[in-house]
Amino acid sequence: MLLGVNIDHIATLRNARGESDPNVIDAARICMNAGADGITAHLREDRRHIKDNDVYSLKNDLKFRLNLEMAATDEMQKIALDLLPDACCIVPERRQEITTEGGLDVYSNIEYMKKYVKPLLNSNIEVSLFITPDKEQIEAAAEIGVHFVELHTGAYSRAYGTINEETEFNRLKNAALLGQKLGLKINAGHGLNYNNVHRMHEIGILNELNIGHSIISKAVFIGLDNAVNEMLKLIR
Ligand code: PXP
Repeated sequence: MLLGVNIDHIATLRNARGESDPNVIDAARICMNAGADGITAHLREDRRHIKDNDVYSLKNDLKFRLNLEMAATDEMQKIALDLLPDACCIVPERRQEITTEGGLDVYSNIEYMKKYVKPLLNSNIEVSLFITPDKEQIEAAAEIGVHFVELHTGAYSRAYGTINEETEFNRLKNAALLGQKLGLKINAGHGLNYNNVHRMHEIGILNELNIGHSIISKAVFIGLDNAVNEMLKLIR
């Protein structure tokens, strides 16, 4: 499995002082030098962490693989078509949420999503839809014509170590297998950490994991390069 490191929290910390430390580009460089396969950054409508300059620097100053997380809005589509990241992961976004809480409702918005992703796909951007591991959402994603989905692992992560773990794990696994059957490549992320990530191997077909909070939190104690390295040991 590949590892995309989500560096939003580096920007959160930087913005706490409103200056330039810690530097997001330096952080991305450290992650990549430690062996990560790509950098993920979420440009939110309110720019609460990652800013426009960050994504342009990540794309243009570094030659690393960039996965831009974004909401399905006109503003973000315009930025993506100008920036041309390697990949776009379309996520739902609510202003009050602390982090991306749910998955996209692709099922109820098939026609909108089809139109929305078309120019991105035509620009050779890999498009992925961030969805909950549910049959109707997987089937809808396959109908849209994207090549990737990212399964929301939040429910599995919260259930890990509880009586609900098996149920949530099987939900994830069945969704991944269905997606594969429908021709999708399957990524996963949200809430994955050093304890719960090992079960992603059991799914057997996951392409990439996008992990942020646990890696950046561990980096506070052991350094970013060591934190990325330790995660890589668990997922490779
Ligand atoms: N994938 C997506 C689509 C996300 O929105 C997020 C959170 O920004 C992540 C992965 C990473 O989640 P976490 O920070 O919990 O590892």
